[in-house]
Amino acid sequence: MEKIYRYIAGHATPQSEALAWVEKQTHIRTNHARMLSGAVQGQVMRMIVQMCGARDILELGTFTGYSAICLGAAMPADGHLDTLEINDELEDLILEGFERAGLSERIDLHIGDCKETLRRFAGEGRMYDLVYMDANKREYCEYYDLIFDMVRPGGLILADNVLWDGKVCQDPLPQDKQTLGIARFNDMIKEDRRVESVILPLRDGLNLIRKK
Ligand SMILES: C[S@@+](CC[C@H](N)C(=O)[O-])C[C@H]1O[C@@H](n2cnc3c(N)ncnc32)[C@H](O)[C@@H]1O
Repeated sequence: MEKIYRYIAGHATPQSEALAWVEKQTHIRTNHARMLSGAVQGQVMRMIVQMCGARDILELGTFTGYSAICLGAAMPADGHLDTLEINDELEDLILEGFERAGLSERIDLHIGDCKETLRRFAGEGRMYDLVYMDANKREYCEYYDLIFDMVRPGGLILADNVLWDGKVCQDPLPQDKQTLGIARFNDMIKEDRRVESVILPLRDGLNLIRKK
């Protein structure tokens, strides 16, 4: 698996200097580098943004800013991205990465619990073409309910880690809150007639959801 991943990564468009800097700093300055979406998934997300022409983008779960830079770099010149992160200790690293990527003017970082930020955004009438969901896995169903009306018809919702290391299809289903949260989310999407969806087996699973 590792060998195949290296082959795929070696045959994708290389990541930018800014992304390489964020990746390196994430390893040096945090203990959670495995949370990075990484070069291959980042390139897939860039291409999705370009293919659907998303101009207004929302991200839940910035971490060190890697995926925000991937999404932001693919937006058109008048595009804008709101990214939401609960951990204020990451703020300096995130903002330096945005600066290095030349995206400071087009990405706004909102520190705080994303559920509260989303309630405020809904009151402000914000609308998005694409939402990337990558915060607390226990809360995906809540996030979905909070963002749904802010997604334009035809817009996309990308939910990350929806295979949760294969745990979602183990029998019996592991009873930890993260596995249960993701399994409940995948079931909820399958039943929701307002959208069409497919889980891409990319890294830890990306649920690609299109609002009709
Ligand atoms: C998997 S990481 C995000 C990785 C990032 N999207 C990337 O690909 O580089 C999840 C992030 O969500 C943040 N998070 C968790 N719960 C949150 C919440 N309720 N509101 C905002 N951010 C949250 C965590 O602090 C963590 O930085």
